Amino acid sequence: MPDPEPDNSDLRRRVQALDTQHARILVLAREALDLAIEYKVDGLHRALDLLHKRLNEHFEDEERLLQELQFEGLVDHCESHMALMERFAELLVQVATGGASTGEVVKFIEGPIKGHFGITDAPIDLFLRTATSR
Ligand SMILES: [Fe+2]
Ligand SMILES: [Fe+2]
Repeated sequence: MPDPEPDNSDLRRRVQALDTQHARILVLAREALDLAIEYKVDGLHRALDLLHKRLNEHFEDEERLLQELQFEGLVDHCESHMALMERFAELLVQVATGGASTGEVVKFIEGPIKGHFGITDAPIDLFLRTATSR
């Protein structure tokens, strides 16, 4: 008797959850961007705090799954997450203390955040898609 096919439904569910996180993060980033452009500072602070929290959760989930699947670019990818979160933490402090303009928030969202999801995550998405289709 051949071995039964490994059940990858749990893997599919987790990859789907990461996709949902991506979509929600981009919506949140768009909201923060609009608040920054409209100079709605109170709403912007709340949106940035939530975005920071959601990014942190997403990066943890993504790194855990990549580690379990032995993704060979894991170290570099974790470093890209860390660099993004460090820059974000600095920005939050600057925004809270009035040391950053809303223009800098716009630049951060348009640059590092959109860049991570649009470019840096692309090989990750491909890797996970390949892993779930086995
Ligand atoms: Fe991601
Ligand atoms: Fe990532």
